[in-house]
Amino acid sequence: MARTEGHTPPHPGDDRSLEKPHPRWRSATVTPVVEGNEGSAPESDRTPHPLDTEQLTSARVYDYLLGGKDNYDVDRDMARQMLSSAPELKTLAWFTRSFMRKAVEMAADAGIRQFVDLGSGIPNSPNVHEIAQEIEPEARVVYVDYDRVVYTHCDALLAGQPGVAALLGDVRHPQEILDQLENHALINLDEPVAITMISVLHYVMDEEKPADIIAAFRDRMAPGSYMAITHGSSDSDPAILQVLTGTKDTSAQVAFRSTPQTEAFLAGFELLEPGVVPVQQWLRSDLPETRMVMLGGIGRKP
Ligand SMILES: C[S@@+](CC[C@H](N)C(=O)[O-])C[C@H]1O[C@@H](n2cnc3c(N)ncnc32)[C@H](O)[C@@H]1O
Repeated sequence: MARTEGHTPPHPGDDRSLEKPHPRWRSATVTPVVEGNEGSAPESDRTPHPLDTEQLTSARVYDYLLGGKDNYDVDRDMARQMLSSAPELKTLAWFTRSFMRKAVEMAADAGIRQFVDLGSGIPNSPNVHEIAQEIEPEARVVYVDYDRVVYTHCDALLAGQPGVAALLGDVRHPQEILDQLENHALINLDEPVAITMISVLHYVMDEEKPADIIAAFRDRMAPGSYMAITHGSSDSDPAILQVLTGTKDTSAQVAFRSTPQTEAFLAGFELLEPGVVPVQQWLRSDLPETRMVMLGGIGRKP
């Protein structure tokens, strides 16, 4: 695991997080659809604990699926169970990363110069800043995740990258993230911004009001801003949904939702074509369907 020296990451929701040093610019009702996953443990039980290697986390399971090495047995066990029901999951993970790439490119091509990647995950190239800065070298990118392990990786691995910063933040507390972005002058919310929430919202339970979370960000975004989301679909194969019940009461517990439910998250944005559809359809017409369906959608604030 990568480590940062002499740097204690703040805890989201902890007042100390607001006192932390200025993040350095580097040189610069909804239906619960996973049967058996209905209801959930309190938020604190579904927040990753950095020293608990017995508890799987979505970041590390995803890291394994993407071919990374920052994962433990418990993460690999879950990933392997998922792969036994849907062997093409690794491919889907890369389709989803390609959707993220497309969304960032669309926003950068439209002139967006600041990006916030919410639920950024363990860095995996190409990361948002690499994509955005290929189009606009001055683009600024803030990576936000509530998992201290992810935060530490982002902080350490992205060190030295111009215009890149990492924050510890929980999307279930959007106001705290917005305040940090503003207080530390990381993002000018008076200017258009692109926010990516790639495969994050399905970890937010119904009672945590995912639509309100998006609305909180939307209401602070300037006109012309972009919001890109992907979300696990309740139309996925029941076998894979069954495997995912094994995540219950962990931070990786999922609530997959239908297309209309996912589309509703982008209320108040102009929905860009082709709308909220499996991510493959955003990429090419000849890509195979997958048993786990990942919906992708991009909205532009009018
Ligand atoms: C499946 S991974 C996706 C990572 C990355 N977005 C990608 O597409 O490669 C989900 C990520 O969302 C983060 N996450 C889940 N719930 C979150 C929350 N409430 N606040 C912030 N991050 C969250 C996890 O820690 C994890 O890194």
